Amino acid sequence: MSLEFSEQAKAKIEALRERYPIAQPVVIPALHLAQAEFGHLSDEAIQLVARTLELPYAHVFGVVTFYTMFRREPAGTNVLRVCTNVSCMLRGAYDVLASIEKASGLKAGESDDDFHIVEEECIAACANAPAIVCGTKYFLDVEPDQAEDILDDLRKRPRPESEVL
Ligand code: FES
Repeated sequence: MSLEFSEQAKAKIEALRERYPIAQPVVIPALHLAQAEFGHLSDEAIQLVARTLELPYAHVFGVVTFYTMFRREPAGTNVLRVCTNVSCMLRGAYDVLASIEKASGLKAGESDDDFHIVEEECIAACANAPAIVCGTKYFLDVEPDQAEDILDDLRKRPRPESEVL
């Protein structure tokens, strides 16, 4: 059976579609909705977005594979985006990433049921580098020895990225 958007998602996409004379500006929000509904962007999910917006599959695929916010594979409930861009890197982001990897038992790019670890580009929290974002929750001025506490916090109160939408 092919994937279908929920009625709520269809309504959101339709409302967005009416705002613009062309479909391209709706690709990113439609992909976020697809990822929230299906967990990741499989070929089938990308085809659904392309079909819904009447755009070529290759165009939508290109957007998916350009942005780190989009996942081609299933992920754990909490997607930890550990920034290692310049400001964070200068303030110890690689030590933070290593401590998150050690505490979770996952390398960047890997998942289990609870977590998916992403080495991320700037997440717009440079003033409080190094920083991690998970759903709507930012962890700021992170020290490596906080990794266990951060993971425990997210196990108790999961922050799925779908809460952003
Ligand atoms: S460089 Fe890490 S938040 Fe900007």
